[in-house]
Order: sequence, then C-alpha cells, then structure tokens
Amino acid sequence: MRPPTVAAANLANAYNINSLMEAFGGESLLVEQKVARTLGKWVGWDQAMGIACNGGKITLMYAIRSALSRLLPDSQCQGLTGETVVFSSEGGHYCVEHIASQLGLGSDNCWRVPSNNAGQMCPKALLLLMERAHAQGKKIAAIICAGGTTINFNCEDTRVIHEVVEGFVSREALSYRPYLHLDSVIGWVYFTLLQGGLKRLPATQLPGNAVAQRLEAICERFSGLAHFDSFGVDFHKTGLCPYNNSYFVSQDRRFMDELGDGKYRFSERDFEPGQLRAYRYTFENSRGASGILSSWVALKKFGKQGLGAYIFRLQQGRETLVAAIKRQALFTQLNEKTLGHEVVFLIPFASDLSSRCVTNDELAKAFMQHCWQLTNTGVQFPLFSIVPNYRINNDPADVTTAFLLTPCHTELTNDDWDWVLRQIAEQKVVFETRYRQRQISQVSEHFERPIK
Ligand SMILES: Cc1ncc(COP(=O)(O)O)c(C=O)c1O
Repeated sequence: MRPPTVAAANLANAYNINSLMEAFGGESLLVEQKVARTLGKWVGWDQAMGIACNGGKITLMYAIRSALSRLLPDSQCQGLTGETVVFSSEGGHYCVEHIASQLGLGSDNCWRVPSNNAGQMCPKALLLLMERAHAQGKKIAAIICAGGTTINFNCEDTRVIHEVVEGFVSREALSYRPYLHLDSVIGWVYFTLLQGGLKRLPATQLPGNAVAQRLEAICERFSGLAHFDSFGVDFHKTGLCPYNNSYFVSQDRRFMDELGDGKYRFSERDFEPGQLRAYRYTFENSRGASGILSSWVALKKFGKQGLGAYIFRLQQGRETLVAAIKRQALFTQLNEKTLGHEVVFLIPFASDLSSRCVTNDELAKAFMQHCWQLTNTGVQFPLFSIVPNYRINNDPADVTTAFLLTPCHTELTNDDWDWVLRQIAEQKVVFETRYRQRQISQVSEHFERPIK
C-alpha cells in the first residue's frame, strides 16, 4: 500500500460514489474501463473491458458465469441443465469448488486437473480429463488456469494449455471451445514485463542473474495469453492498493451480455455518454468507487515500469532473504524452484524434542502459536507464517509443515533480514526450553489447509 492509493480510496469514499450506473457514479465507470483496458493492453488485448470488484474470488465467479453463458446461452433465462463441468488446476485456489456451488453448477462438477512437479496442470492429465468428460457426454465450460499462487507460484504455461485444448477441440470436432481464464490475481503484476518490459529493467541484463531467469520464465508462461478469454487482477495483493480492489478483465465486451439476465443485449447506445448501466452485468448493485480510483492512481503514479520495478525489487528481496538463511545456517529453504518471491523454509527443532513426535507438525504448530501469542502481547516480532502440508517440490509424497516469509518491503537490507531470522531463532530456543519444561499449552489454533 502506498499513500497516493490510500488517499485516492479515501477520496472516493468521502464523495460517497456509487458506481452502479453512470447517472450515479459518473466517470468512475469510465475510469473503471480505462483501468481494465490498460491491463488488457499489457497482454496485447486491444479491446479489453472489465469489472472492478471486491476480490479475487469474485473475478473467478465472473469468469465461470461468463463461460457458462457462452456455452449455454439459454441458461441465462432457464437455469443450468445438463452435464457441464469446469476444470481447475490442482495447484489453483481452493475457492473454485465453492464458486461452482454458488453458481448452481455444483462443487462436484469442478474437476481438478492433477499437477506435475512444476506445480502446473499436467498436459497429459488435462487431455485425459477432457476425453473423460467428452466420453461421459459432459461439456467443459471453462478451464481455470493458475497464474501464480502465494505459495510455490503455481503458474500454467498458457501456450501449452492453449495447444492442448485446441488440439482436443479440433480432433473431436467440438462445436465449442472451453473458456480459458487465468487466475492471475497474484501474477498479473508480471504482465508489466511482457512486450519488452523485461528488457527495460537494466539489472536483468546481468548474465546468470537468478531474478532475471525467473522473470523470463514467468513471461514465457504468459506468452499464450492472446488465446485466453479473461484474467483476474488483485490490486490489493501486488498493486500497492488498499482493500478491496480486484478486476475481472476480459478480451472483449461479450461478458456484458453473458453476465446479464438473458433479456437485455448491449448495443452502441449503452456506451454513449451518461448511458452505461453496470448493474446489468455486475453481481453487486451498490459498488463504491474506492477501488476504481485507487487502482487508477496506482497506474498513473507508478505506471507499467514502476510496477515492474516494484516486483523486480521484491524478487531481489527474496535473494537477500535466502542469502541470509544460508549465511546463518539455522533454517533451510525448501522452495528453491518457486518463480515467486516468497520463501518457504524449514525450522529444525532440537532432536530431543523432535524424537518425541511422530512428525514435525506438532512442534511447528506449537511454535507458531507461541510466536502469535508473543505478537498478541504487543512484542515487535517479525510476521511470518506456517504452511501445513507443504509439498516440497510439488511432490505429494514429500510433505512437511514449513514456514513462510514473503518480502513485502522493497528496501530490506542484509542486516534487516539477519535481524528477522535471529528473532525467530531466538524464540525457537525459548520455545524449546518451555516445551521441555511442559510450559507450552496445547495447540488450540485451528490451522487451515495451505492458502494457495
Ligand atoms: C491465486 C488466488 N486466487 C484467488 C484468490 C482469492 O482472492 P480474494 O481473497 O481476493 O477473494 C486468492 C487469494 O489469495 C489467490 O491467491
């Protein structure tokens, strides 16, 4: 979050704007489209339009509802009938099943495509599942692809997905092509590096630079986006804006009809000054403009290059943190292969304690609870997190309970990271002593499955 984006959000709230329709929200609706069009242009979509909304989950809902209407136009008036499924990658966000349920499709009709050891949909598995759906007489409305996740940065190669899907469609002579959505609510900021953006970061020219290699790999994965239908953006995640600030961005404006009630069709008249009525296609009627103004200010203030430089510096932050982990040799990084800037690491507990437990899970959770209690008493302590069931190198057979540090500040130095790691290491010793003396309370927190 940066002061200008917070100021913009507050200003929009102060004017109490409702972006329901132009008559109430005025040019906030135009600004909303300018943001969507700008984001679309970064991936080469010249006619992109979109919807500002409250969160990444809503961007996925818009994508799936658009896909259902595109496949089954009658469903807009008559409801969903028949055998329809959506696919999502195993490594993608957990909310897709819930969305399928909320949209009347049913969570059982969200099929997860198994991932390979790079955390991507396995192309063979994707093909097999498409064949299975087809053989069972089911239609595949959408394929929800991962475009970067908080842990392991699971991210499809958009070119591969497109090739596999196109090949299947033409072989089976399907009358439709599954809708392709990229859930890039985390990864969208890397779109700034497409179309020559990467070359404008001088430090990436350094041969062998690990950050440059990761950025190049991410850009390659996004290079098939021309064939996708929509993507999601969270400015409140990697766009320096306060909550709530997300965008569903579509190649074109077909979503306006697809998200409607099936009785109204948009025409040029709807785009004449003062005419746009967003409520015809949005899930919400009352829509504040704080996200719209704040994201617009982020684009104006930092620009494509500024946001690219920001994510580049966060990636460099990962390098500094990993170097500190290696220097101190107290913890072990587990996610060398991730393309993201997050660092997942193992904390080895004293052997007399770990030999008492079957897995390190119990100790890790108790330690996390110990640290949270410390923070809750007002001690200034680094904010780090726990990752239960962490799959090392995306291997389902190699699972542990790990910890997570994600650089969010671009200016942290070696000394800063040394301090962070020392604080955690010192508390580990305090924790171990108390654990031996049985002064640690039972784990009372409910630890959720890993947030992707
Ligand atoms: C990859 C991904 N998709 C979707 C979501 C859901 O976004 P939100 O929490 O903004 O609704 C998240 C949240 O972390 C996410 O990481």
